Amino acid sequence: MTILVTGARGNIGGRVIAKLAEGGHRVRGSARDAAAVRPPSGAVAVELDITRPHNAKEALRDVDAVFLYPTRGDAGAFLTAAREAGVRHVVLLSSPAAYEAGEYDRPIGLVHRAAERSLEESGLRHTVVYPSWLATNAFRDWGERIRARESVGIAYPDAQVSPIHLDDVAEVAAELLTRDTHRGRMHVLTGPESLRLRDVAGILGDVLGTPIPVEELTREQALARRAPWMPEPVLEVLLDVAAAAVGVPAPLTNTVERITGHPGRTFGEWAHADRARFEAG
Ligand SMILES: NC(=O)c1ccc[n+]([C@@H]2O[C@H](COP(=O)([O-])OP(=O)(O)OC[C@H]3O[C@@H](n4cnc5c(N)ncnc54)[C@H](OP(=O)(O)O)[C@@H]3O)[C@@H](O)[C@H]2O)c1
Repeated sequence: MTILVTGARGNIGGRVIAKLAEGGHRVRGSARDAAAVRPPSGAVAVELDITRPHNAKEALRDVDAVFLYPTRGDAGAFLTAAREAGVRHVVLLSSPAAYEAGEYDRPIGLVHRAAERSLEESGLRHTVVYPSWLATNAFRDWGERIRARESVGIAYPDAQVSPIHLDDVAEVAAELLTRDTHRGRMHVLTGPESLRLRDVAGILGDVLGTPIPVEELTREQALARRAPWMPEPVLEVLLDVAAAAVGVPAPLTNTVERITGHPGRTFGEWAHADRARFEAG
């Protein structure tokens, strides 16, 4: 059995490929620039742009299952190639934005719904996973300032999220890619606890052994400090989601435990494991 993991350089894809290789599976990892992939021992890197799949045939040769990232752009031709190549199952990384009120018809939701629609139209058997707030968001959003030992600016710091450890997402994906027990369903994956954003920063501070002051931003300040890589319409949605989550416990599911057999890892565990990324200097 050969498994193709798209987005092999991604935070999640990188862990999926590592879990599969650890489990002794034959695995191929793709990226738009194959040379940039550092595949684990036993895995092979291939070049693939899901939205321009001129080399899909090669990437899909003898592949039984695919881990699919939701790309901005049409995945239809790639999925047709996957069906023609004999792929039997696809695991799609989606987002709760695909179904949550206030998100499903806005930029993030539309991208994920388009990916789901392409998959349905392909006729391929598939399973969709919906991870909650990725623990890596803390690094994405606050990493630079924490490394500089500055305060982090958060709009709506009392918004609640359920940070999920990326190893849990990867373990679930690896299970779905290799065994059929939990396939064919939608799986909403969350961490084990609902935390206010300010508590997430507090846990990071505890782990790093230095308090991380939180500066409460107005919506306007958050928009003015938008990172160049973050499109404004996307930030608008994220701010609306955060505003709606103030004082509202984040949904929690036991899906990680049901599928992997162990409780979901905490945000503190992720922070410990990834603390080097936040170290000053
Ligand atoms: N942030 C959250 O809280 C959250 C919650 C739920 C779901 N999600 C989902 O998780 C994703 C983030 O996962 P992550 O942190 O692992 O992402 P990441 O580290 O940013 O990696 C994104 C991956 O997507 C691949 N990719 C993008 N466009 C592609 C294309 N046209 N063809 C092939 N590959 C392409 C990239 O591959 P290259 O190497 O070719 O660049 C890269 O490996 C979000 O985009 C969202 O869909 C996020």
